[in-house]
Amino acid sequence: MPRKSLIAANWKMYKTPAEAKAFTDAFLSLVAGHDRDEIALFPSVTSLATVVAAVAGSNVSAGLQNMHFAEEGAYTGETSASMLLAVGATHTLIGHSERRQYFNETDEVVNKKLHTALKHGIIPVVCIGEVLAEREGGLTAEVLKTQIAGAFVGITAEAAAPIVIAYEPVWAIGTGKTATPEMAVEAHKIVRAEVAKLLGADVAAAVRILYGGSVKPENATALLGEEEIDGALVGGASLKADSFAAIVKY
Ligand code: 13P
Repeated sequence: MPRKSLIAANWKMYKTPAEAKAFTDAFLSLVAGHDRDEIALFPSVTSLATVVAAVAGSNVSAGLQNMHFAEEGAYTGETSASMLLAVGATHTLIGHSERRQYFNETDEVVNKKLHTALKHGIIPVVCIGEVLAEREGGLTAEVLKTQIAGAFVGITAEAAAPIVIAYEPVWAIGTGKTATPEMAVEAHKIVRAEVAKLLGADVAAAVRILYGGSVKPENATALLGEEEIDGALVGGASLKADSFAAIVKY
């Protein structure tokens, strides 16, 4: 079975609800009827309900950029799985490199969040990727394997079907430096092989691995044309409806 690609917009800390609504209305008309790929928007938490309402009944899904692993509790500033589901969202990012870098998110926390997402039927997009020093030190494969192994502790092959992985080399995020298709494919193959080792060949063949890091309309075709690349997680170029639509329709 060929894997259906997922093209996702990570808006990070951009857009008020009004801006999110304006984007979504414009974007939906640009991608109406687009069925080749799945499409998801990850707005900030204050815009999530607005985006969910705007995409209702369309070919576009909505999710959180970050979700806490606990069911509920005294975790100021955090959002739970039940809260995500209650507003009608379906997806969550887990372990984005900015969460790892600025909010001390470890592989252990990523693992807890992954368990919580799967328990609640939320589609998790688990983000991994090496920093520049690791790439330059020849450590990319080791880092990716460690992140995958850490994220997947206690995850069974039976439970793994909804999981999406996003390979986002940190040195390519927001820098305008994109991994070449060859570099991305090589990394994706390492990740898929690690998933095969942990969860078996069937899960590995089915799991979608997205590429993220300075994806733009100009480079989307070269990256997404690769069989090994099952979609994109887009930051900066997802903030404008026409630019993100051009990536979706690469
Ligand atoms: P940019 O597309 O801005 O490089 O961001 C990538 C990213 O972090 C998506 O999650």
